[in-house]
Amino acid sequence: MLTSVELRQKYQDFFKSKGHTIIPSASLVPENDPTVLFTTAGMHPLVPYLLGEKHPGGNRLANVQKCIRTQDIDEVGDNRHDTFFEMLGNWSLGDYFKKEAIAWSWEFLTSKTYLGIDPRKLAVTVFAGDNDAPVDNESAEIWKSLGVPEHKIGYLPKKNNWWGPAGQTGPCGPDTEMFFWSGESELPPEDSNPANDEDNWLEIWNDVFMQYFKKADGTFEPLKQKNVDTGMGLERTLVVLNGYADVFQIDTFWPLIQTIQNISGREYIESKEVTRSMRIIADHLRTATMIMGDDKGIAPSNTDQGYIVRRLIRRAVRHGRMLGITENFGDKIAQEVIKIFASVYPELKKNQEFIMLEIAKEESKFRNTIEQGLKEFDKLMEDFRLFFEKTGETIKEISGKQAFKLYDTHGFPLEVTQELANERGLTVDVSGFEEEFKKHQDLSRAGAEQKFAGGLADHSEMSVKYHTATHLLHAALQKILGPHATQRGSNITQERMRFDFPHPQKMTPEEIKAAEDLVNAAIAKDYPVSWTEMSFEEARTKGAMGLFEDKYQAMLKVYTVGDPNELADADPNSPTFSREICGGPHVEHTGVLGKFKIVKEEAVSAGIRRIKAILE
Ligand code: ALA
Repeated sequence: MLTSVELRQKYQDFFKSKGHTIIPSASLVPENDPTVLFTTAGMHPLVPYLLGEKHPGGNRLANVQKCIRTQDIDEVGDNRHDTFFEMLGNWSLGDYFKKEAIAWSWEFLTSKTYLGIDPRKLAVTVFAGDNDAPVDNESAEIWKSLGVPEHKIGYLPKKNNWWGPAGQTGPCGPDTEMFFWSGESELPPEDSNPANDEDNWLEIWNDVFMQYFKKADGTFEPLKQKNVDTGMGLERTLVVLNGYADVFQIDTFWPLIQTIQNISGREYIESKEVTRSMRIIADHLRTATMIMGDDKGIAPSNTDQGYIVRRLIRRAVRHGRMLGITENFGDKIAQEVIKIFASVYPELKKNQEFIMLEIAKEESKFRNTIEQGLKEFDKLMEDFRLFFEKTGETIKEISGKQAFKLYDTHGFPLEVTQELANERGLTVDVSGFEEEFKKHQDLSRAGAEQKFAGGLADHSEMSVKYHTATHLLHAALQKILGPHATQRGSNITQERMRFDFPHPQKMTPEEIKAAEDLVNAAIAKDYPVSWTEMSFEEARTKGAMGLFEDKYQAMLKVYTVGDPNELADADPNSPTFSREICGGPHVEHTGVLGKFKIVKEEAVSAGIRRIKAILE
């Protein structure tokens, strides 16, 4: 049996031995990235470095990254889909390329010291070539030189063997993927490979050769540097190596299933429905816990990441109810999740109280209205039935208005209503729902959804300006409110910036004005913006603000607004206005930012304030 702890350790040991710096997992919530709600791959936080920025860890990196993909959220409940997952990855930032990347992947998979997989159970695919890029014969030759026979190499088009950009534009390239035999027979038939027998091969690792930038017009141009970006799914790998038929049997899931069995008094294998509900509960509460435990203070809410947390918890509660669980249980599952991951992601322990409290609050809130909501839903079904009796016509769809009422009055996320509808062979008018929603909210959930499916760091001019303005606001708040006003979350779009920070009460109009004035004064002074590398300790003594998670990195990139040689402190007139640990990018002079304006100051959750601001 291979455990998750062993797999993470082996992976990191291996790449360390190949000269890689092990970097910590970045947050699940991307910093300053307007286009996605969550980190979806290990490369995501590294985009600036893939585009040529210098990484303090050097040009060979590896890590275990927390990731969330929710596109398949409705598939959760089968034997393999999950929303939170861990990705093992290694990167070359303009350093090694295909030869080393492929040879090391092969060595890690097959060497007895590491995974020791029988090479006969492995097969690979390479990019077949098209108008944008040639067939990747080079990778195929490298595989052959390592002993992979020609018939175990599949050639596939962009749809399969090309990765990125995750959004409309960004770094991308052809990839070569590694597969494990999952067919009935002990060994695969001689000529079977993932290109001609896709159902019987499971992808476990992807080596992407990021050498192109996809432009907005859809064309590809070569990047300044040739990078390697690899991703191995931890869950998937544990499943195949341990011979499980079900991802919920791995050790970062099974204790959750056991807890759900204990609480409900039901058996996982009792029936298809019970299995499915238990899987949904385990997956959704695991993901919700990881998001809330991520140092950004994300609590259930009606927008962005908070809405995803809300959706996950409420769907889990409904499935708990289907198992006969009538009391709050989410916090018990969260506690188990924290136990499983605390040694890997120490932030979970730190945020334990917040997680437990918020989950229990959310569950109670939903439990207060769910009974009424389900009654309302049944009434609707009765109406549909009566309509059929009267007219002989069947209603197949729940209208946007009806779904919105369930949402607005009874707290049913659209997905819960959709699921209830599906169980009865009905659909929901989603665009009708969204229309209703937009009428009632300033930020639509549809917008949140788009971000989610959408792309990666957008380094357009406006985003960069907002990024620098974020540093100015952060410094200004510390100078005006005090050192407790540290960044808890930040989000930038082309139109505005948003900044979350702890503060016990609403800011007064005077404080808001003072912060605004101070930022505008910093813009008027046209401070230079520069960066340099230093250790965490040095950054601290020089007055840099930064995140707890950076502590584990050897060298850090630190941006200074103002005099790079002076100390950054609370004095509003200090020649060094701001110093902050940050990957960049930023403008070169603050004068280009224009006029800074705070448009809103509001509460996000207990003790956390949010400022929305624009540059005019
Ligand atoms: N970024 C690549 C993936 O997610 C490695 O598959």
